[in-house]
Amino acid sequence: MRQQLIDKFLEIFGEGDDANVYFAPGRINLIGEHTDYNGGHVFPCAITIGTYAAARRRKDQELHLYSLNYPENGMIQAPLSDLSYRQKDGWGNYPKGVVQTFISKNCRVSCGLDILYYGDIPKGLGIGSSASIEVVTGLILKELMGLSDISLVDIALFSQLAEHEYIGMSCGIMDPFTIAMGKKDHAIFLDTSDLSYVYAPLLLSHEKIIITNSQKKRSAVDTRYHERRAQCAEALKELQTVIAIRDLGELTAEVFEKVQEMIASPVRVCRARHAVTENQRTIQAVEALKHGDLFEFGQLMNASHLSLKEDYEVSCEELDILVEEAWNMDGVLGSRMMGAGFGGCTVSIVENSAVNSFIQKVGENYQSRTGLQAEFYVVETGNGATVL
Ligand code: GLA
Repeated sequence: MRQQLIDKFLEIFGEGDDANVYFAPGRINLIGEHTDYNGGHVFPCAITIGTYAAARRRKDQELHLYSLNYPENGMIQAPLSDLSYRQKDGWGNYPKGVVQTFISKNCRVSCGLDILYYGDIPKGLGIGSSASIEVVTGLILKELMGLSDISLVDIALFSQLAEHEYIGMSCGIMDPFTIAMGKKDHAIFLDTSDLSYVYAPLLLSHEKIIITNSQKKRSAVDTRYHERRAQCAEALKELQTVIAIRDLGELTAEVFEKVQEMIASPVRVCRARHAVTENQRTIQAVEALKHGDLFEFGQLMNASHLSLKEDYEVSCEELDILVEEAWNMDGVLGSRMMGAGFGGCTVSIVENSAVNSFIQKVGENYQSRTGLQAEFYVVETGNGATVL
């Protein structure tokens, strides 16, 4: 991949200084969904597919960006002095947003850059492709601008800030953090209230992680995501009138039961209950994994799905059908919708011996119930952002 990308780079940007190649993965999340903006825990891992980028410094003050995935956008060019968001730049707004954020954080971006991107993350899956582009761009800036005091965690935080302030998507820290900090054969048990984390070994010798693309187009995700976020913030405010907490993630299910009557709307009670119980499930799941209890882990994944469906209402018919079909199969330890929701994919843990029948049967039944053809990816855990 490295040499191929360098060859393409020289073909597109012309001969000149050598380019370096960088990689940032995509991410999956085993459990802990919609907890990362509620001060709760998440349990994601980086995977082996992601975004590659070849880059070199320019002699002027311009950004020149090209993606092999979006040749129709052509070469995106912008001066460092005006990196404002432009609709027509499409995907290119993600890297532009990151460069802009670095500049706004007083990082010295001393010259322009040529960057060629290539991603092997399937479109529409919801496994962090935009965060992957952002983090790889952050790594390029760190390396090519000599920003040695910028850490990978800083890159994750700047990527999140770019999403919030430049793209307009108020996402949590899970995606960029995992993509920057992932570690092969490990999941990250991350406490989003203070960014403390532990790498938990994930040596699945008898099982595989399968991501299933529902092929249901995700629509109005941003609007509905922001709505959930606002509902949780409102519920938190109502609870803070009787209990001194900073985040919903600080509550146990038992304490929540006692104070929930302070939340005036039944919908907000449901949203907050998901945030609280999902956080507790995530803590329990990591404990179960520590003891090698994958059965319990899978049960908690299943419970997570029900809570996302019923309390948080971010699932959809297609995701529910995929999960239901998975639950009906032998050899499936757990299955649930993954990511923001409203379409996208599910994550399942399946015994090795059942993988083929899972793909065949779930695929067939899903197609006959929805008319859609699901796609299956057996994923491997991988490392976080790196120079290749
Ligand atoms: C999206 C966001 C994440 C997280 C998930 C839901 O992927 O980018 O920050 O909130 O949804 O868990």
